[in-house]
Amino acid sequence: MRTIAVLNQKGGVGKTTTVVNLAAALAMKGQRVMVIDLDPQAHLTIHFGVDAETDGHGAYEVLTKSADMSNALVNVRGNVWLLGANINLVGAESELVSVVGRETVLREALESLTESFDYVIIDCPPALGLLTLNALAAVKEVFIPVQPHFLALQGFSKLLQTVSLVGRRINPDLRVAAIVLCMFDTRVTLSSEVKADIKNFLDNARTAATPWSGARIIPIHIRQNIKLAEAPSHGQTIFEYEPKCNGAIDYERVADYVHNYMNGEAADEAFLASISEEINELDTTLASVGAAIQAAQEEQNVAAEPSLESAESAEPMVSGEFAPPLDSAQAAESIPSPEPAVCLERPEGDENSEPARESAAPAVAPPPARIQPPSPGSRRRIVAVAAAPQRRMLNRRTFARSLRK
Ligand SMILES: Nc1ncnc2c1ncn2[C@@H]1O[C@H](COP(=O)(O)OP(=O)(O)OP(=O)(O)O)[C@@H](O)[C@H]1O
Ligand SMILES: [Mg+2]
Repeated sequence: MRTIAVLNQKGGVGKTTTVVNLAAALAMKGQRVMVIDLDPQAHLTIHFGVDAETDGHGAYEVLTKSADMSNALVNVRGNVWLLGANINLVGAESELVSVVGRETVLREALESLTESFDYVIIDCPPALGLLTLNALAAVKEVFIPVQPHFLALQGFSKLLQTVSLVGRRINPDLRVAAIVLCMFDTRVTLSSEVKADIKNFLDNARTAATPWSGARIIPIHIRQNIKLAEAPSHGQTIFEYEPKCNGAIDYERVADYVHNYMNGEAADEAFLASISEEINELDTTLASVGAAIQAAQEEQNVAAEPSLESAESAEPMVSGEFAPPLDSAQAAESIPSPEPAVCLERPEGDENSEPARESAAPAVAPPPARIQPPSPGSRRRIVAVAAAPQRRMLNRRTFARSLRK
């Protein structure tokens, strides 16, 4: 059984999102997964669609020994069991203060279940209190989600000190196994800078005897994806809510990495090899799309040139001056809206009614019949499509390069 605490005392960095979707992805691989909500906010419980207000047994009852772990677990999905949080958990820390062995209650509760599960994943609260200590005493691996933004690494050393302390005093097997970069924005340099800082830090720690000397940055970054932010309010994992979105793809790959490639020195190389075919396929597709777009653009230019020449000798368009050819950015700006401008007016005396949609004269006069530029819609599309795959190609290459580092 692998036991993982997902921990960062910083709030809102992606801990709960990672626990839910990593657990769901591992379960889809046939693994039996227990998830534990140790956060009094009960976000993990709510994210799985369970009502945190009900009186059912949960983490609080297990920590205060008023319920058995096996009675408190709820099967929330095929292969996923939840030890949920409810409002009582808020008081658990102060109640446990006077209990002997208060940091190891959870570990003891888990001992009888080691054969029943392949993974136990704990969602920690954004604090380094007694609940978090219980999580650290109960697991062998710590995953630290990091949101790469300004001050992302503030508090990082405090976090590592805590892990180190628990490692020395209570749990010698404890190690920081992975850093998960969440809400990663490939367009922002800061994301890569934070990643480089963490990598430097970890590389410098390799030779020291610390619980994080073997930590690795998971080579799949969880991209920013609005679907991941929407899924909790539906009580669904990302695989139920939007199984084809980037968030689902990223978490599925992280789960693949965690399950198959996190052991041994050659793990990253093996993982890269496993997805290299996919990267090559994608590059080939993008290259052919790029070539098709370039050909279409050239065709457009050839079609547009004689028209512009004829325009020089034609009647002036609107203002009497001939407009010089535009570069692509200006062209995109200058394309008139495909619909004529409209003005919206309410019928007099009717404040609440929907505004009536009245046609008005187009804001830009239509070109003379002899000039036949491509339709505004198609030019707009071409400019947009031409930009998008190049950006994606760049991202895939940067991504592939960063993986190879
Ligand atoms: N990759 C992502 N893209 C967009 N939104 C995300 C992503 N990951 C998480 N979120 C959203 O960001 C918010 C914070 O995420 P989450 O709750 O997982 O963080 P947390 O570390 O558990 O927070 P807390 O410390 O409060 O427990 C949530 O609204 C979540 O839906
Ligand atoms: Mg959380």
